[in-house]
Amino acid sequence: MSDLLLLLNEERGFLGARGIINTHVGPVDATDARFGDVLQAGGQRFVVVRPTFMDLLQSCRRGAQIVTPKDAAQVVAVTGAGRGWRCVDGGAGSGFLALFLGHVVGPEGRVTTYEQQERFYRIAARNAVRCGLEEVVEVKQADIASFTEDHLDLVTLDVKGAELLVDKVRRHLKPGGWLVVYSPHVEQQIGARAAMQEAGFTGITTLETMQREWRSLGGFTRPQSKGLLHTGFLTLGRKVF
Ligand SMILES: C[S@@+](CC[C@H](N)C(=O)[O-])C[C@H]1O[C@@H](n2cnc3c(N)ncnc32)[C@H](O)[C@@H]1O
Repeated sequence: MSDLLLLLNEERGFLGARGIINTHVGPVDATDARFGDVLQAGGQRFVVVRPTFMDLLQSCRRGAQIVTPKDAAQVVAVTGAGRGWRCVDGGAGSGFLALFLGHVVGPEGRVTTYEQQERFYRIAARNAVRCGLEEVVEVKQADIASFTEDHLDLVTLDVKGAELLVDKVRRHLKPGGWLVVYSPHVEQQIGARAAMQEAGFTGITTLETMQREWRSLGGFTRPQSKGLLHTGFLTLGRKVF
């Protein structure tokens, strides 16, 4: 597990390794800090807390476009992914979806994520260490089409041409196992959905999840006028035979 600390005050949080952590009001010496300690800098107080998985994930390096937490959470909400699940994911990109799933399946489970490009493979592998999940999430530098893992509970695909992998995925899933295809464009979802229907998946659903943050400023409360308006579509279905 990474030795990172989160310094929190009323305004914001600062994540850093044990030692000197820079904040908006100057450096804080957290060399000997314990969780719950209160440290001072620039006339402000910070409490030292253990970062959550989401604190760590949000601080990870981003290369390729990530699957956002609202969409990753939806994958878990619909499939019921949990402790001990065996998952395959491709492409890894920055590893965000694979790591989110790794956090959910825990040490009893396994997520194997495939990435073709060396640059993204390195980012995803480094992010797995930052999140303390390198024993759960294995990053392989290879084409997702070459995956060999079997008896899977869940396969997630965030690559072009996902529809061409549907038949292979079906053969490698357990009965009742899930395939989830993610894409920013609906054309790919239409293709994936058709391929899943052809392959005999059941309960096929296409979802777009919208999340709108509200601002609340002294009695003027309303939805934010800017933000992430569209991320992607999910098509989810279960293997029968
Ligand atoms: C949009 S990103 C994936 C982001 C990832 N789901 C995340 O949450 O961070 C797509 C990635 O798939 C990789 N990729 C594309 N085709 C692939 C393939 N056939 N096998 C493995 N990786 C592939 C790309 O290099 C890119 O890094």
